[in-house]
Amino acid sequence: MAKIPTVRLNNGVEMPLEGFGVFQVDDSICERAVSEAIDCGYRLFDTAYSYGNEGAVGAAIKKSGIAREEFFITTKAYIQQMGYEKTMKAVYDSLDALGTGYIDLYLVHMPFGDYYGAWRAMEEMCKNGRIRAIGVSNFLPDRLMDLCYNAEIKPQVNQIELHPHYQREKELALMRELGVQPQAWAPFAEGMKGMFSESVLADIAHKHDKSVPQVILRWDIQRGVAVLPKSIHKERMAENADIWDFILDDEDMRQIGTLDKNTPSMLDTLKPSEVKRLYDYLKNPILTSLQ
Ligand SMILES: NC(=O)c1ccc[n+]([C@@H]2O[C@H](COP(=O)([O-])OP(=O)(O)OC[C@H]3O[C@@H](n4cnc5c(N)ncnc54)[C@H](OP(=O)(O)O)[C@@H]3O)[C@@H](O)[C@H]2O)c1
Repeated sequence: MAKIPTVRLNNGVEMPLEGFGVFQVDDSICERAVSEAIDCGYRLFDTAYSYGNEGAVGAAIKKSGIAREEFFITTKAYIQQMGYEKTMKAVYDSLDALGTGYIDLYLVHMPFGDYYGAWRAMEEMCKNGRIRAIGVSNFLPDRLMDLCYNAEIKPQVNQIELHPHYQREKELALMRELGVQPQAWAPFAEGMKGMFSESVLADIAHKHDKSVPQVILRWDIQRGVAVLPKSIHKERMAENADIWDFILDDEDMRQIGTLDKNTPSMLDTLKPSEVKRLYDYLKNPILTSLQ
C-alpha cells in the first residue's frame, strides 16, 4: 500500500492529503474501524467533540504500537464550546479524551457563536504546543476572509462539504489566494443523490480500471483538495486509500466538472432553518451526556 502523501500547511506542518473520517461511526465500533483503517495505511483521523468517539480514536492509536508522531489527529470544537474560556476547556477535554498528548489540527466546527474568542484560545494553545495547526470548518468566503483579517495566526485549513455535486471552484480559488488548505468532508456526499451511480464517473472509473469512489477522491486530490472518506468496511477503507497509482486527464476533469449542481447536498449554513437544526442538535442525548 503506497504511503499517503502530505501537503505542507501555511505554518509548515505536514498534513496527509487523505484521512479517515469517523462521523456517525458509533463509539462501540469506532476503535475497531480506526484499527482497520490504520492497517490500510491511514494516519490522519478526523473526529470531533460532537461525534462522541474521540476516546475510541485515541485508544486505537495507542493500541497500534505505531509512534504518535506518525499520526495526524484532527478534532473540532462545536457551537456550545465557542468563546475563549469554553474553547480552552474544550481543547483540554479533547486532549483528555484522545490521550494523544497533543492535537495535530483543531478546528472551529461551525461558523456560529463566539468563534473569535475560540480563535484566541486556539492561537494560545498553538503557541504552547498542545495544538500543531488550527483551522475552521464550514466557513463561507466572507467569514473566512474576515477571520484572516482579524487573526494573529491565519487558519491553516477550511474543512467544507465538497463533492462532484458541489464543486465550489471560486471558493477554492480564494482559499488558494489566502493560503488556506481546503479539505473535503463527505467527499461522496454520503452516497446521496445517486453519487455512486453517476454514469460520467462510472465511465471514467472503467477507463482507468478503478472504482467510482476512487475517481472522486483522485479528482479532489488533483484539484489540491485534501480528502476525508469514511467507511466502516475494511475492503472499502483499502479501496479508498488506493488512489495514488493513476492520474485523471484533462478530459476526465472537464467531464466531472459538468456534474456540479452548485448547491450543498447536506449543509446550507445560509438557511436559518439549518442554523436552528444545528442548535437543536445540541439537545442530542449523546452531546448532552458529554457536556
Ligand atoms: N466538518 C464537518 O462539518 C463535517 C461534516 C460531515 C463529515 N465530516 C467529516 O468527513 C468525513 C466523511 O464524510 P461522511 O462520513 O459524512 O461521508 P462520505 O465519506 O462522503 O460517505 C460515507 C458513506 O459512503 C460509503 N462508502 C465509503 N466508501 C465507499 C466505497 N468505496 N464504496 C461504496 N460506499 C462507500 C460509506 O458506507 P460504509 O461506511 O457502510 O462503508 C458511507 O455510507 C466524516 O466521517 C467526518 O470526519 C465533517
